[in-house]
Amino acid sequence: MCGIVGYCGKQEALKVLLSGLQALEYRGYDSAGISLKSGNTIETVKTKGKVIDLITLIANSSINTQASIGIGHTRWATHGIPSSENAHPHFTERVSVVHNGIIENYRELEALLNQNGIKRKTQTDTEIIALLIDFFLKDKPFEEAFKEAVKLLKGSFAIAAISKDENFIMAAKHESPLVIGLSKNQTFIASDVSAMIEHTNSFIFLEDGDIAKISNEKIVIWDKNGKIVNRQPTTINWSKQTAQKGGYKHFMLKEIAEEDEAVRNTIQSRISEDGRILLDDEITIDEKFIKNIDRITIVACGTSFYAGLTAKPILEKYTGVKVDVEIGSEFRYYDYPYSKNNLFVAISQSGETADTKEPLRMAKNKGIKTLSIVNVKESAIARMADSCIYTLAGPEISVASTKAFVSQLAVLYMLAFYIGQKKGKDNTERSRILLSMPKLIKETFNATNQTTKELAETYHRYRNFLYLGRGLCYPLALEGALKLKEISYIHAEGYPAGEMKHGPIALIDENTPTVVIAHQKEPLYSKSLSNCEEIKSRDGKIILISDKPASIVDQTIEVPIVDYEFLPFIYVIPLQLFAYYMALFLGYDIDQPRNLAKSVTVE
Ligand code: M6R
Repeated sequence: MCGIVGYCGKQEALKVLLSGLQALEYRGYDSAGISLKSGNTIETVKTKGKVIDLITLIANSSINTQASIGIGHTRWATHGIPSSENAHPHFTERVSVVHNGIIENYRELEALLNQNGIKRKTQTDTEIIALLIDFFLKDKPFEEAFKEAVKLLKGSFAIAAISKDENFIMAAKHESPLVIGLSKNQTFIASDVSAMIEHTNSFIFLEDGDIAKISNEKIVIWDKNGKIVNRQPTTINWSKQTAQKGGYKHFMLKEIAEEDEAVRNTIQSRISEDGRILLDDEITIDEKFIKNIDRITIVACGTSFYAGLTAKPILEKYTGVKVDVEIGSEFRYYDYPYSKNNLFVAISQSGETADTKEPLRMAKNKGIKTLSIVNVKESAIARMADSCIYTLAGPEISVASTKAFVSQLAVLYMLAFYIGQKKGKDNTERSRILLSMPKLIKETFNATNQTTKELAETYHRYRNFLYLGRGLCYPLALEGALKLKEISYIHAEGYPAGEMKHGPIALIDENTPTVVIAHQKEPLYSKSLSNCEEIKSRDGKIILISDKPASIVDQTIEVPIVDYEFLPFIYVIPLQLFAYYMALFLGYDIDQPRNLAKSVTVE
């Protein structure tokens, strides 16, 4: 969702801001803008569209490119349509503001401003912040006016603001991420580290309630009680290269190709050669509790939810306890009946998803033991849980989640074996199979990349697809359908294959192809083939993803043979590739699909 970037230093701020905004494009947005402090004025350029449109607009403007203090923003519309007016920064003559999040009490604050004759010009909640700061500037310096305005805000926000009269940026964070980048004689601020990684590896992650004053030489941070605090910097060893496309046409394809490496990073230091799971340092929840866990409740959204659903039978089998997998946006409004020794697990690539964060907060408030599985270091969900296991998949830039999924699976499988281990079971043979997954993932990518491309060329004009699977293949059918919908805008439904006759079979005709996912394990394979017979009798086309080809289907994407319990690591790859190539043939913006955001930080 929205991306913030700010700079205070000796370089040309404009260049830093624009490259930072480009690095944040993956978050999803519909408009972009910048404000620069130029002498004793603020100059702003903003537009609906992409950063490239902003760059063109700036090239045709007379903005002072020498300015060394500025803020920039990519907006994902919540209040008001995507338009140049509603784009950030929002400004008055004296201040300019960028904001990520939602100001829930903006109408109340607007009424207050109206009473003083101040009116909004745009449809946004953010303009209210700029107007409030400006209002308080009547009798207060910028720093105090900013603090006074922030005190009145309710909702979630990350804010950065500049004043025409001061050489520093004021920033505030509450429930939306904001990170300060540290470097000699210059300071950066952004929604995430990817916008600053080409300049520094040293970051301060602001905490909820923090207000910061950032100049090129000094940073002052006040905590939620207004007390000056010394937040320690964290080093993030990502290279600029890691966050770039590395020769691939799209981040999505690069990230699918990196899945072997992602899983290797997830597991390599956490499984001993003899198959013992080494998670004691990361799972700091006390051992007695782990041994006595009587239920696991997984909460997540989107692809992370499907990772949970996929791993559920594995967790149940190896821990011996019941596992519930719940959608975050539903769970938060539901009075869940926790058991006595319930472990709550939040899964999130970004670590900032509001619909996952809130259930985690609620579980903590009830005194439930919590664990998070997160990719982005120091994100809110990572920090909020009692323990966090990082997936270590590396930066995932494409909006469609791919490598994070297999890394989440790897953590969930390790978690299953680890809890089993604590309960006295020997799962070492299983964990050793997990160790062999990176090699098999690589083989699968190589074996299916070309076939999926050819199939996409054949199938990209169809407008509806059905995805079917049984057992462990069923959640993959849901994930495969989600991937296709997200980036190719083709309607796709995932179903357990056995449910077909209870309704979806009505959709089958020559215009609705079905992707059937079937491992050779019997009786699941034979039952899936019976579904194929039923589809064929209704003129439906079938693409089979399997380690055992079948003559009845139109095409088989053949994958390497794999132990049934580990098939999700392998079978998901052709599903991701198929979606990717379908979108490629349709000519869509694969890494930033319409209406979607990488990190969904609002409800
Ligand atoms: O960052 P999270 O894993 O919490 O994100 C959850 C979903 O928003 C995310 O998986 C979304 O469904 C992806 N676009 C799927 O590709």
